[in-house]
Amino acid sequence: MRKERSLVIGAAGQIGIELVIKLKEMYGAENVIAADIRPPHAEEVADVHFEHLNILNHEQLESILEKHKVDVVYQLAALLSASAEKQPDLAWDLNMNGLFHILNAARKGLVKRVFWPSSIAVFGPTTPSVGTPQITVCEPNTIYGISKLAGERWCEYYHAKFGVDVRSLRYPGLIGHRSLPGGGTTDYAVDIFYKALERGSYESFLSADTRLPMMYIEEAIRATIELMEAPAEKIKIRSSYNLSGIDFTPLELAEAIKKDISDFTISYAPDFRQKIADSWPQSIDDSVAQSDWGWKTEQTVDDLVSIMLTELRKKKLISETSHN
Ligand SMILES: NC(=O)c1ccc[n+]([C@@H]2O[C@H](COP(=O)([O-])OP(=O)(O)OC[C@H]3O[C@@H](n4cnc5c(N)ncnc54)[C@H](O)[C@@H]3O)[C@@H](O)[C@H]2O)c1
Repeated sequence: MRKERSLVIGAAGQIGIELVIKLKEMYGAENVIAADIRPPHAEEVADVHFEHLNILNHEQLESILEKHKVDVVYQLAALLSASAEKQPDLAWDLNMNGLFHILNAARKGLVKRVFWPSSIAVFGPTTPSVGTPQITVCEPNTIYGISKLAGERWCEYYHAKFGVDVRSLRYPGLIGHRSLPGGGTTDYAVDIFYKALERGSYESFLSADTRLPMMYIEEAIRATIELMEAPAEKIKIRSSYNLSGIDFTPLELAEAIKKDISDFTISYAPDFRQKIADSWPQSIDDSVAQSDWGWKTEQTVDDLVSIMLTELRKKKLISETSHN
């Protein structure tokens, strides 16, 4: 029996690169197609077929799906929270039509399953912010959050009306070492590691006590693939599942970094992203994901700091060696 073939749209982004690497490891390079408006820059994906695709062009999308006989699509292309506030029209167009084009392709039978990520940005200032439950008040006040909430409703609708097998996770802020984040409100939690190693200091654009839900990116990839491989009858939420990793503040993250880099210092200069962060939950309850499809994670801030510093130090060594 032939293995399923996956298409990752937004493959050059922070999550896309990691997902392509993992899918390639699991199913072989010949069963993964990477698509984006720009090619991914990572050696690990050099042997994966790349298609230049603008997700806003549905004819181009459908011809790629047919040409490669794609079974599963991961639609990651979007404008993230901070960038979306600066370009609301583009954010709405990309975040909504990018989803519609793939849902419609699935409705026509061109793909079997679709993954589309939502975000903790669907919650808003009126949502209970500690241990935010799966089903709760969702009154987002950012363009990004509004687009993600609307997207969730469309996913549920396409599943109920047209039987589209679409699955989704509300990712928290994702932290990884392979690529820089693309304009989100949780970007500080990646940037801080680069600056800690480069200069020993960091100026945070969020205040010391801004607590947000976060997750190491490889855990988010594991959750994504586990969700996509679960039997369809176990997926009872067709809007989007809450997903929880760890939560911390910039101050707590800095304290954890200091255990390794003792003279590391942090200062705070909150900007427009503070308001976005203030509207988001501090921690998430993902017990529904746990009971429906068996999600489980165990992470600490110290684990995260240790992985990030180790990997970024290795990267620095490699780049210094290659320049010698
Ligand atoms: N990174 C996070 O912390 C986080 C948290 C919650 C949800 N998400 C969601 O996960 C998804 C991926 O996020 P990311 O962090 O990898 O974003 P990113 O900005 O790093 O990557 C997005 C990719 O989409 C591509 N793209 C943009 N416009 C396109 C178009 N018209 N056609 C095709 N490709 C296009 C970009 O070139 C980029 O490579 C998004 O839907 C985002 O909302 C991310």
